[in-house]
Amino acid sequence: MRIKDRTFVISGGASGLGLATVRNLHAHGGYIAILDLNAENGNKVVSELGDRTAFFEADVSSPPSVSSAVSTLVEWIKQTKKPIGGVIPAAGVGFPGKLIDRHNEPIPLENLELVLNINLRGVLDLIRLCLPHMTTTTPTEPDGERGVIIMVSSSAAYDGQPGQVAYAASKGAGCFDRTELLRERYDVGDESEGQEEFGGGL
Ligand SMILES: NC(=O)c1ccc[n+]([C@@H]2O[C@H](COP(=O)([O-])OP(=O)(O)OC[C@H]3O[C@@H](n4cnc5c(N)ncnc54)[C@H](O)[C@@H]3O)[C@@H](O)[C@H]2O)c1
Repeated sequence: MRIKDRTFVISGGASGLGLATVRNLHAHGGYIAILDLNAENGNKVVSELGDRTAFFEADVSSPPSVSSAVSTLVEWIKQTKKPIGGVIPAAGVGFPGKLIDRHNEPIPLENLELVLNINLRGVLDLIRLCLPHMTTTTPTEPDGERGVIIMVSSSAAYDGQPGQVAYAASKGAGCFDRTELLRERYDVGDESEGQEEFGGGL
């Protein structure tokens, strides 16, 4: 995967694993489009790294927000002339809760939806909107690669802890999606671990 002079779209890039990925790809010469809910942190990262980074405020659980951010970042790419080389949908939340609490009350459905909409639908939404801009680039390497998608899963996909039912479901589904994306002939990596190394919140 060539990094230099290609743009990488990273959701959740204002903190933790996403931010560590931003720093790494930037250090290797990549252009970075950070999508995140947290504008304060996102803008701080851009001020620190400077050139070759841009911040696009977005809530990945809101389809109009993702769509608007992708349209804006595509305009940025037209200016920089550095094609999309990868999508890393790293924005994710834990929001733990058991299906019934100690008073036998079911968890509010909104709590489950929040996690699934960010960790699963938001991931697929970002990939789907970026893909048309990746598949139309001109390959620069002999293998014809036009870009990569790196899914961010978790050990919870295989061995969730009590209270992680929605989180584990979202991360397990991410692993399944990886197989489907491969069948559709996209090149997909899977980041399932790396806890603590990047100081993430989850
Ligand atoms: N921390 C870990 O040990 C660990 C382990 C395995 C997998 N992961 C995965 O790594 C990813 C990042 O985790 P982290 O620990 O670095 O978390 P973090 O809380 O440090 O960072 C998450 C980032 O996502 C952003 N975000 C949250 N909701 C959003 C939304 N709706 N729209 C846009 N941005 C949003 C936050 O503002 C934040 O910048 C997650 O997908 C998580 O499941 C983390």
